[in-house]
Amino acid sequence: MRRLGTAAAAAALLLAACASGTVDTTTSAPVPAPTTTTPAPTTTVEALPYLDASLSIEERVDDLLGRMTLAEKIAQMTLVEKNSIAPSDLGNLGIGGLLSGGGGAPSTNTAEGWAEMVRDFQERTLGSRLAIPLLYGIDAVHGHNNVPGAVIFPHNIGLGAANDPDLMERIGRITALEVLATNIHWNYAPAVSVPLDIRWGRTYEGYSQDTAIVSELATAYLRGMQRGDLSDPTTILGTPKHFVGDGGTVWGTATTNGYWIDQGVTEADEETLRAIHLPPYLELIDAGAMSIMASYSSWGGMKMHAQRYLLTDVLKGELGFEGFVVSDWEAIDQITDDYHEAVVTAINAGIDMNMVPRDYRTFIDDLTSAVEAGDVPMERIDDAVRRILAVKFSLGLFEQPFGDEALLAEVGSDAHRAVAREAVAKSLVLLEDDDDLLPLSPDEERIWVAGGAADDLGIQMGGWSISWQGGMGARTEGTTILEAIEGAVSPGTVVTFDRSGRFDGIAEDESPLCITVVGELPYAEGAGDDGSPELLAGDVALLASMDDVCADLVVIILSGRPLLLDGLESGWEALIAAWLPGTEGDGVADVLFGAVPFTGTLSYEWPRSIDQVPFDPSNPSGDPRYPMGHGLTHP
Ligand code: GLC
Repeated sequence: MRRLGTAAAAAALLLAACASGTVDTTTSAPVPAPTTTTPAPTTTVEALPYLDASLSIEERVDDLLGRMTLAEKIAQMTLVEKNSIAPSDLGNLGIGGLLSGGGGAPSTNTAEGWAEMVRDFQERTLGSRLAIPLLYGIDAVHGHNNVPGAVIFPHNIGLGAANDPDLMERIGRITALEVLATNIHWNYAPAVSVPLDIRWGRTYEGYSQDTAIVSELATAYLRGMQRGDLSDPTTILGTPKHFVGDGGTVWGTATTNGYWIDQGVTEADEETLRAIHLPPYLELIDAGAMSIMASYSSWGGMKMHAQRYLLTDVLKGELGFEGFVVSDWEAIDQITDDYHEAVVTAINAGIDMNMVPRDYRTFIDDLTSAVEAGDVPMERIDDAVRRILAVKFSLGLFEQPFGDEALLAEVGSDAHRAVAREAVAKSLVLLEDDDDLLPLSPDEERIWVAGGAADDLGIQMGGWSISWQGGMGARTEGTTILEAIEGAVSPGTVVTFDRSGRFDGIAEDESPLCITVVGELPYAEGAGDDGSPELLAGDVALLASMDDVCADLVVIILSGRPLLLDGLESGWEALIAAWLPGTEGDGVADVLFGAVPFTGTLSYEWPRSIDQVPFDPSNPSGDPRYPMGHGLTHP
């Protein structure tokens, strides 16, 4: 059902406010008296200049900025998490942005429930004095992953192994459509991290340890989301993140939340920072990025959120970035314990919109007093608000503040899932197959499948899935690897599943073909920081027991990073890295049984030991277990 979401809606709301006298027309620039005293719902309202879509974005920004009070300007710089907002403040203050943090679901956690929640927030915001539309943001980092029923794609580490820009563009397109179905226009993706230390819990959010692969895939994904023209109503705003050097932090330098490396210190010199971590931002700005998120990490002795040199001189000056810089969640708070000082420092450094995310009134009060005291120049405020308004005008939000609920019918559609299935198949990397065991025949007499991860959608999806940290079990619609195997074999093939691998009561004299799926349990961000990423002890024991009973053993690893395997009794005949494939397990069966060939190649170096970590692109370790680019292919 389409909702009234045209300029008429905003203008009628605004003119109604004028007519009812609730609009203070004596502020900075007089709002012309309404042409009618009782604004009928009409499409021919005499739009105020900033509501006139025939004017240039610059003209519209100039007109609107000239009408705004300081309070309204600072409200535009305020990004609040949706559970913390007093709904009346949306209309009273004219808050610039809301977000759902990881999960951040409505009370009715369906795509329809999301659409209704965001529509309500937007309608309230359009009731503000100047009816500046809200920008609602979410982490749709591998599909619209917060929403049950949405298709969930492989995480970026798998897409890096697929290394297919055309596929990335299609994934970006589908993500945009499923996000727009829920009235959301802003996606905190892609991460353009170059994760050099696989001990980092965010390794899987990076495409590769090769900067060029990161740039190419992220640009294609952004192109899919933004289509080179943000005024296209089927586009959403992407957000390359986290600027800059988030993937280059050093183990043991983290100081928040008990993390080890996440949000830590990037110790690279400027030349290295510019060579490894900066290039994706150049590419993405050229590709039209209009929002960039700053990194929690530190460089040059200070938090990135305080880095005026990098945020303003380099990003906005040297690189010519004309969009707005958004902070990360409560990130400015880490600058200093004195919150007022943190606000002053961050805004003066170049943060344009602050993801507060909770106590927005304190942020607003502190920034207001800082401007009034001259600690934050009005020019800085105007620059930040200009950037934010220019993006909102570019997105066409004043004309179409809502998404398109007609797209709800496409959320999780077979067509979307087919693309995810293709992505899964292309992301799998065949690491070992000494006896050319693969592909398997779908006519095998019997197949034993072991490992809890074989039948667990939550493990398959990893973090950032339905909830921030993800979780085990059937949390949304999808196909597990076991279900995919069962669906791929012939009717005469007997598939037996035993998560423990004991297969009690089955004749000992059988010498079955076995598939065992092992893997990491879901995590996100620093919760996944791990000093020695390796198989769980239970999985090690499982593999040993399977080796005893299986004639041939295929092992599939579900993980957010390369795991340390050296020293394991590698009783397997074939070994596959499946990363975190998401909801479409059929893509695993497609390559297992030869419907499509293995084509994935490692976009990360796979180390033998932690001594080979972090990866140094300028000086690869020389003797990894599997080098970057490794991946066996079969005809
Ligand atoms: C998180 C992440 C960032 C995410 C933001 C909003 O802490 O660092 O990637 O976009 O908060 O959820």
